[in-house]
Amino acid sequence: MFRTSVRRIATVAPAQSFLRPAALSASSAAYSTAPTAPQPPSAHTIAISRAGGVVDGFVGAIGNTPLIRLRRISEETGCEVLGKAEFANPGGSVKDRAALYVVKDAEERGLLRPGGTVVEGTAGNTGIGLAHVCAARGYKLVIYMPDTQSQGKIDLLRLLGAEVHPVPAVAFDNPMNYNHQAARHADSLDNAVWTNQFDNTANRRAHIETTGPEIWNQTNGKVDAFTCATGTGGTLAGTTRYLKDISGGKVKCFLADPPGSVLHAYISSGGKNLNDRSGSSITEGIGQGRVTDNLQPDIDLLDGSLNIADEKSIEMVYRCLAEEGLYLGASSALNVVAAKEVAQKLGKGHTVVTILCDGAYRYADRLFSRKWLTQKGLIGAVPKELEHHIVLP
Ligand SMILES: Cc1ncc(COP(=O)(O)O)c(C=O)c1O
Repeated sequence: MFRTSVRRIATVAPAQSFLRPAALSASSAAYSTAPTAPQPPSAHTIAISRAGGVVDGFVGAIGNTPLIRLRRISEETGCEVLGKAEFANPGGSVKDRAALYVVKDAEERGLLRPGGTVVEGTAGNTGIGLAHVCAARGYKLVIYMPDTQSQGKIDLLRLLGAEVHPVPAVAFDNPMNYNHQAARHADSLDNAVWTNQFDNTANRRAHIETTGPEIWNQTNGKVDAFTCATGTGGTLAGTTRYLKDISGGKVKCFLADPPGSVLHAYISSGGKNLNDRSGSSITEGIGQGRVTDNLQPDIDLLDGSLNIADEKSIEMVYRCLAEEGLYLGASSALNVVAAKEVAQKLGKGHTVVTILCDGAYRYADRLFSRKWLTQKGLIGAVPKELEHHIVLP
């Protein structure tokens, strides 16, 4: 377990509004000319009236996501278990925040001028977030990814406007690794930047300045614990940093790690073991083989770590769908399992927050396919009474 003093953050963003703007159609309910006695506003009307109004373009719609109370998990644990609905970002994932911040950072540092090019190595949500942000801001986007990725991912990035280079999948220490190729591509162009999501701490800053303050405000400062998994580590590190700072160290923060990632063993061994890569996971976008620059400044603030098996994550994908109506990807489901375990560890009456990173739309052909679940040995993880959701062969 790590426990260290909490360092103060010099700049903290101003408070964010509680609710994201509601759809305009919500205010245009059926029109009647018949006079009616004034009614007290319903809770729903009040919520809509507090909506923030018009936002400026795609980037204005990033963040201020709802904090959803997970009803069944809360009942089961006697805690308030809350999921930050990052799938409600306009590009569909938590990575919209990082995408915006790495681009803004490059602009502010004079590395990116109008008409410039953003280059990144990614096969996942960061590329999608960057594609939207770049289109909205008038930049070209070039993506390098391992050629082991599905055609669907390549097609999606291309249709969003990115130039995509699938390259042979080789280890990070090989100069032909997709990240190094991305860096060299940016170097070879004028007015271009490699946004380097893993080690560019503008990513972590997005969560110090937005995700953390939003969670604090949405819970009125009544939050006892926070947990989530890491890919780059930006979400965990930045949110942990803010919550620890604002609460004087009171909010307990935990890493949630899938099998195959080195971080769980690293944290549980007090920083001694960074080599345990045992196991593998079907989760995408999370799990890490090193301590990134985004995670490094805050890893000592963590109060512990949980290792979550794929069986539990798959079960939670189906439970969240059936019990909460939430169609979540596996990393979000893993986070909910972790939040549940943290709640059980803390005991009744606590508030535990986690991240609902993205929806299941991009993963449906796996998570809801009988053949894929069977191949992965995970078919038995789907609760019997929820098997009717497995509709794909
Ligand atoms: C689906 C999903 N979940 C979680 C994460 C992890 O977020 P972070 O990179 O901030 O650690 C990612 C990152 O790409 C992701 O794509």
